[in-house]
Amino acid sequence: MIKLSPSILSADFSRLGEQVKEIEKHGADWVHIDVMDGMFVPNISFGVPVIKSIRNLTTLVFDVHLMIEDPARYVKDFVDAGADMITVHYEADRHIDRTIKYIKSLGVKAGVALNPGTPVSMIENLIPDLDMVLIMSVNPGFGGQKYIEYSVDKISQVKELKDKYNKELYIQVDGGIDATNVSKVVKCGANSIVAGSAVFKNNEIEKNISNIKSGF
Ligand code: DX5
Ligand code: ZN
Repeated sequence: MIKLSPSILSADFSRLGEQVKEIEKHGADWVHIDVMDGMFVPNISFGVPVIKSIRNLTTLVFDVHLMIEDPARYVKDFVDAGADMITVHYEADRHIDRTIKYIKSLGVKAGVALNPGTPVSMIENLIPDLDMVLIMSVNPGFGGQKYIEYSVDKISQVKELKDKYNKELYIQVDGGIDATNVSKVVKCGANSIVAGSAVFKNNEIEKNISNIKSGF
């Protein structure tokens, strides 16, 4: 079962609640929530109060992608705000193993994200503890960027590790995914698809989601 996780970074923030209900109605599985601190990435998005404010509007899984330095400082706050899964960046944390165990100790799923330039080999030892590996297919910080082609190689490498460890694992791809390229990442083993601009563009959420899902 492949999960579609629309990124609300591309939503119309002036009516965020309605847009979350709309993606739920039209077949989203998760809500991808991009938190940016202006340090780890050159952009600031939103944080805990915004997540709290939409938590009661939907039963969808809250898939929280922390693009922040030293994320362990805030993990508990995001769990309290309603996160179901928390993904932290390998590059943002000196003690990634400790942080993964901490996230899991709070009763939510744990993921690790890799920037385009970070090799998959860096996280092999973490696989048994992880619920998800997120392959960034753009440099994090902004929606609407162009998909980086070598991401498929990295997805295939994670799929090999998943098979090697015989592990239930979500392999998420995030950045520049749309109806034209979703099939090839799914073929390589991606089973959680993030899409921001491709879901919210032209205010045609229903049609956009159905186009993306037809590539699954
Ligand atoms: C980028 C974010 C992505 C982004 C995806 O830093 O992590 O989730 O919102 O947006 P699109 O699908 O437009 O590339
Ligand atoms: Zn993201």
